[in-house]
Amino acid sequence: MSLLKLSHVSAFYGASQALFDVNLNVEDGQVLAMMGRNGMGKTTTIKVICRMLKHRGGAVLFDNHDIKRLPAHKVARMGVGLVPEGRRCFSNLTVYENLVVAARPGEWDFKTVAKLFPRLEERRDQQSSSLSGGEQQMLAIGRALMTNPRLMVLDEATEGLAPVVRQEIWQAIARLKSETGMAILVVDKSIKELSAVADKAVILEKGQSVWHGEFADLTPEITDKYLGV
Ligand SMILES: Nc1ncnc2c1ncn2[C@@H]1O[C@H](COP(=O)(O)OP(=O)(O)OP(=O)(O)O)[C@@H](O)[C@H]1O
Ligand SMILES: [Mg+2]
Repeated sequence: MSLLKLSHVSAFYGASQALFDVNLNVEDGQVLAMMGRNGMGKTTTIKVICRMLKHRGGAVLFDNHDIKRLPAHKVARMGVGLVPEGRRCFSNLTVYENLVVAARPGEWDFKTVAKLFPRLEERRDQQSSSLSGGEQQMLAIGRALMTNPRLMVLDEATEGLAPVVRQEIWQAIARLKSETGMAILVVDKSIKELSAVADKAVILEKGQSVWHGEFADLTPEITDKYLGV
């Protein structure tokens, strides 16, 4: 069943149009990779999904509900868990406080998040501003999980991290997929890492979805054309 569906979505920043025609679909239990070069509209699409930016044309359906008139917190409560670009956490709160303020009832709580990321248990009472970049990313993912979402949205979750830490993040994403069957929308530039977790792919170019299909059907011609430098 379709959990998230965008049809012909357009969106603007003031007078400047950023999205022209975005179409995508995330099925229950599926991982969709959203790809595209810098500035093509990936984060803007995520903002539209999370209602941090209003779309002008087209439709956004979450669980078959039109979210056009909903405020961001309602969409979050419906089950969209966002891990934003730049891994924002509350820097004046401890790791534990960051996690519990986000909590909503469900299988994800401090214990289960700490099992996924043991480092967060070790850093439990540390201020989040004192964490390493990788630990902050784990905390940002943990915060989204604490809301017990039906759809996780990860915007460049491995950007700027050391290779070993990136691997830890990818492993966690793979575990979320295999152990929980959670639907995931993941933005990343690493095709190799995405290929291990993604079922489907959508490619954005200049605010339009120009290719979508099975991840396995992405050929070098397609990736060169839309993602190559
Ligand atoms: N707050 C903003 N105000 C005006 N224009 C913006 C704003 N944020 C993004 N844009 C523009 O919208 C377009 C899409 O940007 P977006 O951040 O969605 O791209 P992206 O695909 O996420 O890129 P990246 O890979 O660099 O994160 C770009 O042309 C960008 O300059
Ligand atoms: Mg972005």
